[in-house]
Amino acid sequence: MSGRKRHQVATSEELDDASRVIADIRGREIAVFSYDGEYYAVANHCIHQAGPLCEGELQATREFSTGEDGWEWRQQEKKQVIVCPWHAWRFDITTGESVDDDRYAVPTYETEVEDGQVFVIA
Ligand code: FES
Repeated sequence: MSGRKRHQVATSEELDDASRVIADIRGREIAVFSYDGEYYAVANHCIHQAGPLCEGELQATREFSTGEDGWEWRQQEKKQVIVCPWHAWRFDITTGESVDDDRYAVPTYETEVEDGQVFVIA
């Protein structure tokens, strides 16, 4: 048995798009971000020197792709990179992976929504 449980952290109304909550779950701080219609849970613990990663800024990144004809460039701005407030290591909140060095990642957790309540499985 994994011992994981479902923990209510917010209502979906409290977690509007591009907002976050940081909850204490079984003695660990876990942040839940609302981004692009989904919820992403990330440990509030930077793997560099244990800084409060999820208290940092969300950074806008740009993704470029070509249109159907292969010529027209499209640019989409995404805000899914959290920047650690201590030394600016950067991680993608949707995967936990470092955007600067693929050897590194921070823990992420499953989320669920039921009856307007947002849960973390941890
Ligand atoms: S503790 Fe997060 S970058 Fe150093």
